[in-house]
Amino acid sequence: MSQLRTDDHLRVMVSHLNKLPCAPEFVICTGDLVDEGSTEEYAILSEIISDLRMPYFFIPGNHDERDAMRKVFPNHDYLSGHDGFVQYTIEDYEPRLIGLDTVIPGEVGGRLCSRRINWLQDQLAEQPNRPTIIFMHHPPFRTGILRMDEMGFENPLEFAAILTEHSHIEAVLAGHLHRPINRKIANTIAMTAPGPAHQIALDLTGEDRLAITMEPPAALIHLWLGSEDGLVSHVSYSGDCYENQVIYAAGKRVRAENLPAPAIPL
Ligand SMILES: [Fe+2]
Repeated sequence: MSQLRTDDHLRVMVSHLNKLPCAPEFVICTGDLVDEGSTEEYAILSEIISDLRMPYFFIPGNHDERDAMRKVFPNHDYLSGHDGFVQYTIEDYEPRLIGLDTVIPGEVGGRLCSRRINWLQDQLAEQPNRPTIIFMHHPPFRTGILRMDEMGFENPLEFAAILTEHSHIEAVLAGHLHRPINRKIANTIAMTAPGPAHQIALDLTGEDRLAITMEPPAALIHLWLGSEDGLVSHVSYSGDCYENQVIYAAGKRVRAENLPAPAIPL
C-alpha cells in the first residue's frame, strides 16, 4: 500500500458532504483529527475543513492535543469545554448533542474520570425529556477486533450504568475504530463511524495483530425523523466510486440516459 494521504481523502470527503443532495445541517468529527497533535497539522486540517459549507464540531481522540486544537481553532469557543476537558453541549439542534472527552494524555485508550462522569450526569439530568445524542471518541463497547479493544474505553460498565438511568438518549456516536460497528447499550444504540480515509481491517480472529485497509472511505449520515420515528443512521461513501443512477422516479421505473447499465436488470 502506498503512503496514505489522509489530507487528500479529507478533501474528497469535504467535497462529498458539500455535494450531497440533502447536505447535512452540521458535521461532527469524533476525534483523531490529526496524527501527532501539532499546530502545523491542525493548520492543515483547518485549511481543508473550512471548505465545509455547514458548521462543524470537534472532540479530541487519542491522537489529538486539546491546547493545540484550541490554538488553531480560536473561533470554536466550545473547545474551552469544562474543567479543562473538551466536553460541551450543543443546544441549537434536535436532538440535543453532548460531546464527551475520553482522552487520557499519552495513552491510546480512553476513559471518563469522575469529573467527566459527574459533568455528564448533570447534563443528562438538565433536560431529561429532550432527545439527546452523545458523541465521544472511544466507543463504550468491545468490538471483537482484539488490538482495538486492547486500546479501547476503560470504563464501559460505569458509562452504561449512567445511560440505564435515562430513556431520552437516541444514540452514542464514536470514532476510533475506522469502520462502522454498532451495539445495543443500556436503553440506546452505540455506533462507530467509518474512516474518511483508511479503515481498520475486519479481523475477528482474536489474533494479536492490526491491519488497515482501503475499503471505501465513508461517513455516517444521521437523519432525525422526529420523536416517533427516531434517528436513522446511514453509511455514505465518499469519492467517485459510483454515480447515482435514477431507476425509479415519479412512480415509474426509468432508465437514465448516458449512465452505465445497472448491475441488476430493470
Ligand atoms: Fe483513536
